[in-house]
Amino acid sequence: MTTTPVPAIVLNNGVPIPQLGYGVFKINPEETVDTVRRALQVGYRHIDTAELYHNETQVGRAVHESGLAREDVFVTSKLDNDSHAHQAALAAFQRSLDDLGFDYLDLFLIHWPTPAVGDYVETWRAMEEIYRSGRVKAIGVSNFQPHHIQNLLEHTEIVPAVNQVELHPYFAQEKVREFNTEHGIATEAWSPIAQGRVLHDPAVQTIAERLSRSPAQVTLRWHLQRGDIVFPKSTTTQRMAENFDLFDFTLAEPDMAAISGLNRDERIGPDPDTLNHL
Ligand SMILES: NC(=O)c1ccc[n+]([C@@H]2O[C@H](COP(=O)([O-])OP(=O)(O)OC[C@H]3O[C@@H](n4cnc5c(N)ncnc54)[C@H](OP(=O)(O)O)[C@@H]3O)[C@@H](O)[C@H]2O)c1
Repeated sequence: MTTTPVPAIVLNNGVPIPQLGYGVFKINPEETVDTVRRALQVGYRHIDTAELYHNETQVGRAVHESGLAREDVFVTSKLDNDSHAHQAALAAFQRSLDDLGFDYLDLFLIHWPTPAVGDYVETWRAMEEIYRSGRVKAIGVSNFQPHHIQNLLEHTEIVPAVNQVELHPYFAQEKVREFNTEHGIATEAWSPIAQGRVLHDPAVQTIAERLSRSPAQVTLRWHLQRGDIVFPKSTTTQRMAENFDLFDFTLAEPDMAAISGLNRDERIGPDPDTLNHL
């Protein structure tokens, strides 16, 4: 395995975040302590969880039991969709901290804008209050379209540090990425290998074979070279290690362009403008 350290992206408030992390969506609580422990052993120092994943307690335990210093592991969690009022958001943040067993979070995100059922602008004001309390190093959003963020920019004070969105070769999100960049917001790509779908793509497979890499490595490398933050999920140690081993090769421009050319604006997940509960 490579010993090259994972590069950091510096967020708009000066906080560094490892560009490659580990996601724990759909890892059931019984397996999470062991799975996150193995991910930390592989070398991951950035974990992406959420209240919705029902495994924050186990993520926290794995970090505590790892022997690593708390400040050496970057942990993100997310505010659930039914916590979109001011007091509810403050309580949700405290719940996440308590479940993780931490006294601060590295990054806290509004999970979805849920525009029809909640006032995400009011929720963002609660996020600002949490940030000013010093108990989170950075705040951001997830699944926000440019018009949702524009609304925040016009009515609130703190520019989100990140926008975490579905993003992979079949859903390249160019407009969202451009908007994020224009406003100094880092883009995080969820489902970076499209939950495995892109790994069977002939174009990805051809590049992988030529470079003696796996399709997952080629796809993750494409994200990194575009400057986005990724946290692939795998419960197998061998795949965790494969997904971490990305720093001793590069994709040449024609290969980058070939993968970008696979975009067909095809979502796996819900549309943020219509999703109201999950
Ligand atoms: N903000 C949001 O709304 C949102 C939504 C979805 C996800 N996320 C975040 O993004 C993270 C990643 O997304 P994701 O879990 O949906 O999908 P993903 O990382 O794109 O794909 C995970 C799937 O691919 C398989 N896989 C992983 N590495 C592989 C490899 N090297 N070769 C072959 N198969 C491989 C995994 O199976 P095995 O486990 O069996 O290896 C799993 O089935 C999540 O864990 C979560 O933290 C956020």
